Amino acid sequence: MLASKDIADILDENDFTLLNQFTTGNSESAVFLVRSKEEKKVVKLPTSQRSLDEITSNISAYRTIHEWGCEDILPPYLEIRSYKGMPYIVMSYLGEDFETKIKRSKNPLGMYESLCGPLERLYRITIRGNGGGNKFLALVRNEIFRNFEQFLIPSGLSSSKYLERIKSIDFSDDDYLITCFSPYDFTPEDIFISNSGFFYPDPKQECKGLPQISLACFAGVSRDAYGLPESVTGYKILEKFAVKTCSEIVDISISSAERLFLFGRALQCSFSSRVRIYGDKEKASYFAKESERHLDLL
Ligand SMILES: Nc1ncnc2c1ncn2[C@@H]1O[C@H](COP(=O)(O)OP(=O)(O)OP(=O)(O)O)[C@@H](O)[C@H]1O
Ligand SMILES: [Mg+2]
Repeated sequence: MLASKDIADILDENDFTLLNQFTTGNSESAVFLVRSKEEKKVVKLPTSQRSLDEITSNISAYRTIHEWGCEDILPPYLEIRSYKGMPYIVMSYLGEDFETKIKRSKNPLGMYESLCGPLERLYRITIRGNGGGNKFLALVRNEIFRNFEQFLIPSGLSSSKYLERIKSIDFSDDDYLITCFSPYDFTPEDIFISNSGFFYPDPKQECKGLPQISLACFAGVSRDAYGLPESVTGYKILEKFAVKTCSEIVDISISSAERLFLFGRALQCSFSSRVRIYGDKEKASYFAKESERHLDLL
């Protein structure tokens, strides 16, 4: 993996001047803001096996996004380079991410509203009608199961009876034939929205999904995990968009869309608990209970 000396070498050989290091996100990748000639760029470098896996997964998702014809959500300049056989990413600087920007915005509510238009367009142009929704939901269920089995239960924040509960969640009665670009890991620090458009520079492989799960994740993180400005109303805006507009896009009933939204919240709360287990046990416990509550409502 890249050590500090390698990072210094990379910056040097590209003639990049280091301006800042980004600290949002939960991964171990080193993400830097640099000056390259007259422009600002962002460089994302692997510093551990986990971050190399994430970057490899970013690269594979970039390919999928091109195949889908929605590459306008990627930074206008995007290049994969390599150093000692290790890939790293160089891309345009997109300004402040949603999380950073909304904290200083004079119109936070407008920011939630301005998300719906570009997302609706993205969902519509990436619609695929050949099934896959049930497979995506099985993936979401596996993630919840893993969070409980490997993290929440061993640390005493939940009980093993929830493993059976999670396994018994059944979506097979509903037919989720349509999927579209909507990763389940969809959070405010990964999204950029400005006059130049909507950008998503940190996609992972599992991009083919159902919008209700993505939006539940985004809304839940915005309100309950980050406490972003106006997020109580912002949550309602996104929930309504997920249930009404997006149920029509993926051709499911309103009640199925509501159920998917709850499932997405169960996933988000299990992640929000997991990432706080060592740093903030009280919050981790709150989110574990919230994940259980959403599972019980399903
Ligand atoms: N092109 C960009 N323009 C502006 N800021 C960016 C850009 N890319 C990333 N950032 C900032 O850096 C942060 C971390 O980057 P990114 O989301 O790619 O990595 P991560 O989530 O830490 O990594 P991983 O993909 O390994 O999970 C983002 O949350 C965002 O604030
Ligand atoms: Mg990220």
